[in-house]
Amino acid sequence: MTRAVCPGSFDPVTNGHLDIIRRASALFEELVVATGTNASKSRLFDPEERLEMLREACADLPNVSVRGFTGLIVDFCRDIDAQAIVKGLRGGNDYEYELPMAQMNAHLTGVETVFVPTDASLGYVSSTLVKEVATFGGDVSGLVPPAVHRRLQERLGRA
Ligand code: PNS
Repeated sequence: MTRAVCPGSFDPVTNGHLDIIRRASALFEELVVATGTNASKSRLFDPEERLEMLREACADLPNVSVRGFTGLIVDFCRDIDAQAIVKGLRGGNDYEYELPMAQMNAHLTGVETVFVPTDASLGYVSSTLVKEVATFGGDVSGLVPPAVHRRLQERLGRA
């Protein structure tokens, strides 16, 4: 069984994340999408809300499950016997950010990181920008699943 983990903050999940999840799910027998907390980012949704949105968005992918994790991603991978970590790359900045993490994770336990290039049409989409644009009333309806869009509007007092 080749099992991979796709970790992230997913605050909230975007269509960019879902493109990576969908394509990665075709590469591995099982893909576990894992929500963690990036200590350096402020968050809009709590961990349970992020899990619910992800579960709903991934419901049509039979070999994808969604779990939360705390602590190190390498420990989570070891606990569930995952051989690889999958990360999407939108461009050079993502690469600069992700490469040391991939190297550190390989150093810690030998787990491999597989980088999947983001679809060219989604390269500008990030949770951070989606939240910022939505906060000031911009239209992000095409960038996140409809259920996530509804929750964003509610959370920002625009529903
Ligand atoms: O979507 P993000 O913010 O890039 O997700 C980052 C996340 C949560 C996947 C990353 O910060 C992470 O793996 N955190 C767990 C703690 C950890 O293992 N840190 C060391 C990484 S080398």
